[in-house]
Amino acid sequence: MNVLVVGSGGREHALVWQLKKSPEVEQIWCAPGNAGIAADAECVAIKVDELEKLADFAETHNVDLTVVGPEAPLCDGIVNVFRTRKLPIFGPDRRAAQLEGSKDFAKQFMNKYHIPTARAAAFTAEAPAAEYIRNEFANGEKSVVVKADGLAAGKGVLVAPDEKSALDFLHECFAGAFGESGAKVLIEECLVGEEASIFALTDGKTIVPLVSSQDHKRVFDHDEGPNTGGMGAYSPAPVVTAAVWRDIENEVLKPFLEGVQSEDLDYRGVIFVGIMVCDGRPKVLEFNVRFGDPEIQPVMRRFDGDWFDVLLKTSEGKLAEADLVWSDDPAVSVVMASGGYPGKYTKGHVISGLREAAATGAVVFHAGTSFNQDGAVVNAGGRVLGVSARGKTIEEAIKGAYAAVAKISFDGGFCRSDIGAKALKHLKGDNI
Ligand code: AMP
Ligand code: GLY
Repeated sequence: MNVLVVGSGGREHALVWQLKKSPEVEQIWCAPGNAGIAADAECVAIKVDELEKLADFAETHNVDLTVVGPEAPLCDGIVNVFRTRKLPIFGPDRRAAQLEGSKDFAKQFMNKYHIPTARAAAFTAEAPAAEYIRNEFANGEKSVVVKADGLAAGKGVLVAPDEKSALDFLHECFAGAFGESGAKVLIEECLVGEEASIFALTDGKTIVPLVSSQDHKRVFDHDEGPNTGGMGAYSPAPVVTAAVWRDIENEVLKPFLEGVQSEDLDYRGVIFVGIMVCDGRPKVLEFNVRFGDPEIQPVMRRFDGDWFDVLLKTSEGKLAEADLVWSDDPAVSVVMASGGYPGKYTKGHVISGLREAAATGAVVFHAGTSFNQDGAVVNAGGRVLGVSARGKTIEEAIKGAYAAVAKISFDGGFCRSDIGAKALKHLKGDNI
């Protein structure tokens, strides 16, 4: 079987790494890929937004399954392009991808199918939105969340601790800081709790959750500093207790599938549900129509079955026949980022110690890496590597990941030193 993976981050490397293990898979291409993916797949110089070119490639190379990593091509309708040309692909079509592409669409879907989520109101003009924000604070809300409706590369959400910052961010949205994505804005009630990431595969007939995980969104230790794409992740997430898991299945995933069916959405892919566990009950923060990064890295480290078969069956509407095999062993992935991230950073610094890190038994997923003129691996993006390890316990996995991190260095490179600490606190029964 021939597979094409679309994307170039740590998520795509983790997917390629698992797909490569499948006995059925003969050839993997990745468009456009990165320096690490190049060791596991053949990288193809096609960008993720060149939908027709990707379809041409899949057709001429007899690709048996295309797996799409990022949200932008899904929201742009890559699945529609492929399916029109009868090319097999894993992912929701354009209409279904609005569950991530429009926060208002997602909120209406959640409300219609009684999925627990934050109270919210949508606005297409600044003045009534500003009035709503003032009222929220006047009525005693301590914070509100302001969200640009459309895709904004993770920058379109502000958890505003006071009225002024909420109004300033609202103004930015309507002044065009996020282009068309900010032409509509949602104002949400601020939920307080601990976040977890839940991925579930669906083919529109069945829905099957993967193991739970948790991201670390803030750039510095102890969840300080600005938000990032994610500085590390572990799986499982102990905040998702058996009771929380049951609620997620019954109150989120089942009604989600019912909604997909009632709305006749073509959904043969993954739904990533961002959950806030509030007083032991799950509430949905957001839907994403793709795997989360870095969360998919520890999740892939724990998968012991045939990933290609699972994704193929999902895309064919035969998910019920798929066999998901998980290890009980926890896994952790620590992100190494470029100095200055998530702000401005410099690129082109040679990364040393990759071989030594791999020799520890860790798996180093590449995100923003490329080759310089001498063929050395250099940093080329904000998040550079995801250094992952599996262990008999979460402690062992954390130790394994950091032992490998210690071998790697590049100018300015840094990571958080507390990835996994929250899981340990849970297991010790400490309050977080
Ligand atoms: P979103 O893109 O909607 O998930 O928002 C990004 C991040 O903002 C989430 O991962 C949360 O950390 C935070 N967030 C979003 N909505 C809320 C909310 N209603 N209450 C508290 N935090 C939120
Ligand atoms: N790590 C969060 C995301 O992928 O959106």
